[in-house]
Amino acid sequence: MKPTVAPFPATRLRRMRQSPAVRALSRQNVLTPSDFIWPIFVMEGTDTEESIASMPGVTRKTVDRAVIAAREAHALGIPAICIFPYTGMEQRTEDCALAWSAENISNCAIRAIKDAVPDIAIMTDIALDPYNINGHDGFVENGQIVNDRTVEALVKMAIAQAQAGADILGPSDMMDGRIGAIRSALESEGFQNVAILSYSAKYASSFYGPFRDAVGASSALTGDKNTYQMDPANGNEALRLVARDLMEGADMVMVKPGMPYLDICRQVKDTFGVPTYAYQVSGEYAMLQAAAANGWLDGDQVMMESLICFKRAGCDGILTYFAPAAAKLLNG
Ligand code: PBG
Repeated sequence: MKPTVAPFPATRLRRMRQSPAVRALSRQNVLTPSDFIWPIFVMEGTDTEESIASMPGVTRKTVDRAVIAAREAHALGIPAICIFPYTGMEQRTEDCALAWSAENISNCAIRAIKDAVPDIAIMTDIALDPYNINGHDGFVENGQIVNDRTVEALVKMAIAQAQAGADILGPSDMMDGRIGAIRSALESEGFQNVAILSYSAKYASSFYGPFRDAVGASSALTGDKNTYQMDPANGNEALRLVARDLMEGADMVMVKPGMPYLDICRQVKDTFGVPTYAYQVSGEYAMLQAAAANGWLDGDQVMMESLICFKRAGCDGILTYFAPAAAKLLNG
């Protein structure tokens, strides 16, 4: 679409910026609490929260506290939360068996939240990294991250999460073929209505650093994730990944990280027109919070500006650690 601009002074573009009322009338994008998915970290224990040094304002919560958080999120109008487990080194094994145990902390949290706050949608993470001795999203054999054996494990993990009551599964592992395998297992196990939000275009990013602290993966991880996560230099490949995941049965797709990859969000939305999400990841949150804490940026203002940019870039929603703070501001 070509912008129409009559010559000056017929067109004075400042006319439409002259007052709050006129600006409100002509505003193209809006943010509401229903745009957010709130990621929360759960850990063993009762009635406790632990702060995460690199993510000021974010805590790891025991399941009872996660239930309280879910209730608050629901009251604020946030439609979904996403659960990530904190696992200590002693819970990590080479076979990652805890990943598909009905009793792992993530599945316990899903059941407790489903029971207490049935109207909030619960999203999960599917990847082996919280349970893997070496911190990788897939099994490691002879120094290689193996694909097909990992997919079999991811399918078991997906079914365990669906059995616990998850509404939206989030495969974040970047193995090939996992969406199709998970979708057909969901169909045959009677979980036709469980949705898949695929981390389709997930880049090998250093912006995940604070998250790895939050889930206890920083010290576990050996090497990097470059053989499965995407090269930040690539754009076309993101579209191929999204096309592939949609063909295999993904209902929604994600671009991750968010702010440095807004061009990819726009291309995905324009190319496919499907429900498109961005993950404003831990490092994006950390850098804004750090600058705000130093008084270098206005924290509330940059939070809202960073979030509306995702809507402008075509996203239908945003996974963000700012979800409750932003929802409170939006609700006045
Ligand atoms: C793990 C996973 C990661 C994030 C979400 N799921 C980290 C990684 O791939 O190493 C990052 C989220 C964030 O940084 O906020 N599969």
